[in-house]
Amino acid sequence: MTKSTNTIWHNATVTRTHRERLNSHRSAVLWFTGLSGSGKSTLAHAVEDRLHQLNCRTYVLDGDNIRHGLCSDLGFSVADRSENIRRISEAAKLLVESGVIAMTAFISPFHTDRQRARGIFPHGDFIEIFCQASLEVCEQRDVKGLYRRARAGEVKEFTGISSPYEAPLAPELVVSTGECLLDDCVARVVEYLQCRNILSINPEQACVVEVDDSQERPVISSGYSPE
Ligand SMILES: Nc1ncnc2c1ncn2[C@@H]1O[C@H](COP(=O)(O)OP(=O)(O)OP(=O)(O)O)[C@@H](O)[C@H]1O
Ligand SMILES: [Mg+2]
Repeated sequence: MTKSTNTIWHNATVTRTHRERLNSHRSAVLWFTGLSGSGKSTLAHAVEDRLHQLNCRTYVLDGDNIRHGLCSDLGFSVADRSENIRRISEAAKLLVESGVIAMTAFISPFHTDRQRARGIFPHGDFIEIFCQASLEVCEQRDVKGLYRRARAGEVKEFTGISSPYEAPLAPELVVSTGECLLDDCVARVVEYLQCRNILSINPEQACVVEVDDSQERPVISSGYSPE
């Protein structure tokens, strides 16, 4: 593919800040990651429901749906998964620029790809949410019947079975979607957003967020330690 040349950025007069003021909330991307069946889609849509009730503008980019359109030409090789995540992160960035709270629900198994996605957002805008559920739980749920097919060798390069999942090392939030009730998981995400002052443009409504200096980003910890 030939790279585009002679392109010059055109600055908009209506900016993200203007849109955020109109919305009365800030924008950000909530990047849900976890095994298939860990609950990314369920949680992202339930969080969206809650935020919508709170008059927030939201949009969920969901794995399978995006593979029907924007990424329909991609498979599940390492290279294609990387390109999938790159396109999604760019789409999410446009949503964030438009003032929306964007949510992405993709396995996004590789640390490098998630770090690259994080890297295209301004500091603090990329909120990585690890949907923590063991392989055993996910396999037992087997929502799409894919684990059974992967074990039978009918689905190649299936995350957790024949392709690795690299758990986040320092996500902003870990949610125990394998053990906790959905409502509790939703509450945890919304509480985090409130603490980060994303649901309001009034800084006085923010609460204190512990800052992990080594990560240089706010962390609300659940005592999670990566394996
Ligand atoms: N706390 C919870 N959070 C999210 N899902 C939960 C929770 N508890 C139980 N579940 C159930 O787990 C399943 C999660 O399926 P879901 O399709 O959301 O997973 P996913 O991570 O999006 O998988 P995939 O990567 O294959 O799209 C659903 O059946 C959901 O009802
Ligand atoms: Mg899903």
